[in-house]
Amino acid sequence: MISPFRHLALEMVRVTEAAAIAAARLMGRGDKIAADRAAVEAMRAEFAHVAIDGRVVIGEGEMDEAPMLKIGEAVGIGAPGCVAVDIAVDPLEGTTMTAMGGGNALACLAVAERDAMLHAPDTYMAKIAVGAEAAGAIDLALTPTENLGRVAECKRMPIAELTVCILDRPRHHDLIDEVRRAGARIRLIRDGDISAALAAADPTSPVDVLMGIGGAPEGVLAAAAVRGLGGEMQAQLRYRNEGERERAMRMGLREPDRILGLMDLAGGEDVIFAATGVTEGEFLRGVRFRAGGALTHSVVTRASSGTVRYVEATHDFRRGRTIPRRR
Ligand code: FBP
Repeated sequence: MISPFRHLALEMVRVTEAAAIAAARLMGRGDKIAADRAAVEAMRAEFAHVAIDGRVVIGEGEMDEAPMLKIGEAVGIGAPGCVAVDIAVDPLEGTTMTAMGGGNALACLAVAERDAMLHAPDTYMAKIAVGAEAAGAIDLALTPTENLGRVAECKRMPIAELTVCILDRPRHHDLIDEVRRAGARIRLIRDGDISAALAAADPTSPVDVLMGIGGAPEGVLAAAAVRGLGGEMQAQLRYRNEGERERAMRMGLREPDRILGLMDLAGGEDVIFAATGVTEGEFLRGVRFRAGGALTHSVVTRASSGTVRYVEATHDFRRGRTIPRRR
């Protein structure tokens, strides 16, 4: 039987394209909240055209704190016969980067079967991600030095030639020190560890490994992307306080401190990951406005087939869109 997910790939690109175009209009305007809101509104409006019975499991926040795309919200046409799916969204990954006109901001989402994605609480997550060549070699329980040794061996490269991507945060002081002592090269990034996970999993990118602590919801989206690209990722939730750990347990996590693998993060038979560049990035080009339209650059992956598609689209704003259907 043909997976119902097969037909969703292009639909999901339409959704991320809409969010990316909306956010890109506000690039460099110094207002990350406005850029995020524009992406959220556009993504939500575009979802209304899609023939899915969708439920947001990772979104803009809890029911009472997010106006749109909140956790538990129903998205899609939702008519009888539509495939029931869970959706993780990050309408604008890299709000500050967009507000400052910096690189690597993207609009992204993941789609999986019901209850196949981790219902990640809004806390932090330690992550390590690599591409297919080093899949099976990483273990978050080992030290960064040990992991780098294993990755280097799999890739048949000296550690000195590996590039490790790390968010530039004070909490990574010791990690950065250790990676330097191990002899690897480091790329410090200001924001955007979903984009960094994509880079680590992409065999053509200059990044070999993502290491460090970032947002937990972003970790689930990154895992969906890494699965599609055939790489590997491990993660462990890192709570800021006991209240966050208790909340994670209330959200259904029986072992809140366990090291999680790709299938714990973004499991099920099939997972789609779609992303469109907002600002110029290494993996995706940003939105380029043209007279009466725009060019977008997206990627969409499907885990079960391992297909990775890049979509370059030309949008003509002068030709009408249909009015979004409401549920
Ligand atoms: P936003 O798009 O919400 O600004 O998040 C960007 C980001 O850099 C993520 O990629 C990353 O996972 C997280 O923030 C890290 O959190 P913090 O900025 O608190 O270190």
